[in-house]
Amino acid sequence: MTTPSLIPVKPEVAARTRIDSEAYARLYRESIDDNEGFWRREGQRVDWMRPYTQVKDVSFDASDLHIRWYADGQLNVSANCLDRHLEKRGDKTAIIWEPDNPADAPRHITYRQLHEEVCRFASALKAQGVGKGDRVTIYMPMVPEAAVAMLACARIGAMHSVVFGGFSPDSLASRIVDSGSRVVITADEGVRGGRAIPLKGNVDEALAQPGVDSVEKVIVVRRTGGRINWFEDRDLWYGDLIADASPDCPPEAMDAEAPLFMLYTSGSTGKPKGVLHTTGGYLVYVAMTHELVFDLREDDIFWCTADVGWITGHSYVVYGPLANGATTVMFEGVPNHPDVDRFWQVCDRHRVTILYTAPTAIRALMREGDEPVQRWRRDSIRLLGSVGEPINPEAWGWYYRVVGEERCPVVDTWWQTETGGILISPLPGATDLKPGSATRPLFGIQPALVDAEGRILEGATEGNLVLLDSWPGQMRTVYGDHQRFIDTYFKTYAGMYFTGDGCRRDEDGYYWITGRVDDVINVSGHRIGTAEVESALVAHAAVAEAAVVGFPHDIKGQGIYAFVTLTSDSQPSEDLRKELVQTVRACIGPIASPDHIQWAPGLPKTRSGKIMRRILRKIAANEHDQLGDISTLADPGVVEGLVNNRLIR
Ligand code: PRX
Repeated sequence: MTTPSLIPVKPEVAARTRIDSEAYARLYRESIDDNEGFWRREGQRVDWMRPYTQVKDVSFDASDLHIRWYADGQLNVSANCLDRHLEKRGDKTAIIWEPDNPADAPRHITYRQLHEEVCRFASALKAQGVGKGDRVTIYMPMVPEAAVAMLACARIGAMHSVVFGGFSPDSLASRIVDSGSRVVITADEGVRGGRAIPLKGNVDEALAQPGVDSVEKVIVVRRTGGRINWFEDRDLWYGDLIADASPDCPPEAMDAEAPLFMLYTSGSTGKPKGVLHTTGGYLVYVAMTHELVFDLREDDIFWCTADVGWITGHSYVVYGPLANGATTVMFEGVPNHPDVDRFWQVCDRHRVTILYTAPTAIRALMREGDEPVQRWRRDSIRLLGSVGEPINPEAWGWYYRVVGEERCPVVDTWWQTETGGILISPLPGATDLKPGSATRPLFGIQPALVDAEGRILEGATEGNLVLLDSWPGQMRTVYGDHQRFIDTYFKTYAGMYFTGDGCRRDEDGYYWITGRVDDVINVSGHRIGTAEVESALVAHAAVAEAAVVGFPHDIKGQGIYAFVTLTSDSQPSEDLRKELVQTVRACIGPIASPDHIQWAPGLPKTRSGKIMRRILRKIAANEHDQLGDISTLADPGVVEGLVNNRLIR
């Protein structure tokens, strides 16, 4: 069955929407013509303790870079996510928690209950001496306490740094050191797909590493009751702290530009960077986009399947939905446990109205056929969303036809950790859909395509995606390294924010993201820097040199392909291959495991010694007939050897 290449807005969706296509066109134009006026009004979405008079103070000029929004206003994010809903929505469910094992009971937490728990935990953190500007690392499974910890930090003005529970102790350690966290919040164990993950054990291991010495306290949520080691003068049980703490903890008045959190993400070079988001602009932006893109209603049950360890979890599991007083589903498990119908079971069980997930999950489930989907009714769902990587039209079509029964619009949302929230996406009541396209920019957002020299390209064309102006949800700096922020995003093309993505724009002005143009690999929607994997590989004594590239992968979108040159006294073997994969898992985490390791006696290099990844990417993709010009290589003969021994045929 084929899916049409253009799917007009459905009359029944248009009939009840607040923004139809005409309104979109008009509001978009207005939002650009009077950008400041637009954001002045949007700022009113949230409650301010001290109203702002200033709105926008931005320069993308690298020599004078600054990005400030609502700078003289003050507010508190947790008060906006909790306190302000108590009167009208105190008994409304804020969080539905669906445990890994469907036989266990889900939890429903009302806004009132969540408020009390956050206040108690915020009091407890204060009692431990945590206050404004302090950093707190959160290394948690998908349990409501993760959201409580984030909101409690926000309440007292501490910055959180959530580290995905799938990262290794080494990765955790380097993020703790970089952030200088005083407290780590974790759980005894996490549970995913029926397996326990030793989170507390990983924290112990991270903190035992040399140089990891900022942490004074480790707070542990009891999730499984599994056996853990306990350090009397350092470790505290979350449950004990909550029980003893005061439920009275007024929110701190925070400057709009006070840091709210940092979140580490991979770039093309060096270590992961701490992307820093601030209080006012971020909250306004996630609240706005969550309402507009999902055409939010009071009775929606919103399920974003992302882990809180990623930006999608921050913005659309926790902050956006709670700022809007919505009911948000937190799912602890995975799509294929205990069976491949789990997503649809959860949708029926909780009467989910909006499902927001990643192409990699859609492709994996598509492979299982239609039957597991059809075991469940899914009649509560009215809108489907996609995020994290380009969605191929085939997966889009399956999502639309089989999951949504052609009833539900699919919003393909393009954004990044750096952007805080969605920038390019259809609006369900306004935008005709094209499978595979993120369609058009949201209000106030000015994307452009540029050529290699930074010249802006007009009309239907292809180029590198930049943003010409700021929006309130934009990251403000790389934690501890402002110069890196400037160099990474504002130096490639003068006066523009460079996204790192390639993109095509069609004759209707629709954007089609084609993927990263830098050395970042997007594996199952997770960003992995080739440099990180390479440095993990060369950490092994047998490895002289390594070059890592992405290659097209049916389920993951991209996979990791490593070319490895061994030292002269090492021999290739299956055991060594396994050992190298293990090394990468230990250094970074399972998500960075190479799919293929090819032994490479030599690597294609220019005469100045630079590895030509372009060529390696072609070899990995099995496109060796399109290698292009290899005459500039120091030793063109290397290529032939690599082609003959490539692993994917
Ligand atoms: O390449 C783009 C891809 O994911 C990158 C951002 O990754 P991250 O910061 O981890 O954030 C992921 C969740 C927002 C982008 O540079 N990407 C994200 N969404 C899409 C996408 N590519 C195509 N289509 C999308 N909808």
